[in-house]
Amino acid sequence: MSLTGKKIVLGVSGGIAVYKAVDLVSRLRKKGAEVKVVMTEAATKFVTPLTFRELSANPVVVSMWGEVHEFNVEHIALACWADLFVVAPATANIIAKMATGIADDMLSTTLLATPAQIVICPAMNTNMYEHPITKANLQKLLDLGYKVLPAAEGHLACGTSGAGRLPEPQAIVEYLEQTIVAAQDLAGLNILVTAAGTREAIDPVRYISNHSSGKMGYAIAQAAIARGAQVTLISGPSNLPVPAKVNFIAVDSAREMHAAVLDYFTQADIVIKAAAVADYRPKEVSSQKIKKQADANLTIVLEKNPDILADLGQKKTKQFLVGFAAETNDLISNAQEKLRKKNLDMIVANDVTLSGAGFNADTNIVKLLYPDGEICSLEQMSKTKVANILLDCILAKRKI
Ligand code: CTP
Repeated sequence: MSLTGKKIVLGVSGGIAVYKAVDLVSRLRKKGAEVKVVMTEAATKFVTPLTFRELSANPVVVSMWGEVHEFNVEHIALACWADLFVVAPATANIIAKMATGIADDMLSTTLLATPAQIVICPAMNTNMYEHPITKANLQKLLDLGYKVLPAAEGHLACGTSGAGRLPEPQAIVEYLEQTIVAAQDLAGLNILVTAAGTREAIDPVRYISNHSSGKMGYAIAQAAIARGAQVTLISGPSNLPVPAKVNFIAVDSAREMHAAVLDYFTQADIVIKAAAVADYRPKEVSSQKIKKQADANLTIVLEKNPDILADLGQKKTKQFLVGFAAETNDLISNAQEKLRKKNLDMIVANDVTLSGAGFNADTNIVKLLYPDGEICSLEQMSKTKVANILLDCILAKRKI
């Protein structure tokens, strides 16, 4: 895999390892990448922007308020230009800003605006690197899908020895080649993901729904995009931000979701149905707000919604079909039954009564079940990690 033709923004923050970033620019250009450098003010105390300008053959940006190099909103233009955004060296300060969404200079603002894959190469004093706050910040960024090249161990500029050195530029280039470019393992695949709960109207102001937040489905869509897939995300109402580069279709009811899914099903290679679809809807939808009666109960008659996944199971040709089973009891047998009945290639089962799993949680504890009886149990982990393992397993099974 090569970096040829890749557009790389290199964010340089202020640490003694800035000198290595100079060499990194040369190496990236020798590999055929185009490089644009953004520096923090602190970084310019170690190496001048001129050095980076000469080596990258592009203007270097430092200030939000300086002379513009192109006539557009510069941090947004740079953020969107990038195929890959590398921060090397990344100080504890820029890592903390990234983890908390602070955007108070050109580098942090551009980082917040970019839809590109971000790679962080931390470099700092060992105590700062091993501080629980820095560790938690890096973990948060990893969970969000950022890549982190761990700092190397060795002699540090502050006179101590330990973890915190910026890896050698050659090692950074190799990491970018192997992990980032090679990780486009879903390139060319069309993936359809459904997420969140559906809403079934009772009257113009009320509906029946469930607790699904959409977090699992959105995490899958985001992970698949990062790995190069073309992703359509069909979602019921959710408060989550729509992942960049996703073909996003918003729906309300199960019937709307069914119609949208059928529109995109034929072209899909993989379908992952993480949505919590309402099995029933009110038979009559009142066109006016239903008024309460003084002393009578209200009965709402429900009729069955289509089972979207079961329908896809009947229609599937080339598609690898993945369902979810959120259960409160008899997890394995209930999930196996759904796998068989709906003609699926895999089902992701989770017990929603466990803490750290299911609706609204940021983590999940799932089991992957296959038609041949194989069961793979995963420990509690972030939904991003579950999403990536799920995609790994789908890829492996599709090849068999
Ligand atoms: N599903 C669907 N359409 C429905 C109901 C469910 O496509 N009307 C899909 C879900 O997206 C999920 C899988 O089927 O991938 C299992 O959903 P779940 O609600 O756990 O199962 P049901 O088949 O509805 O069974 P039950 O509610 O009785 O457990």
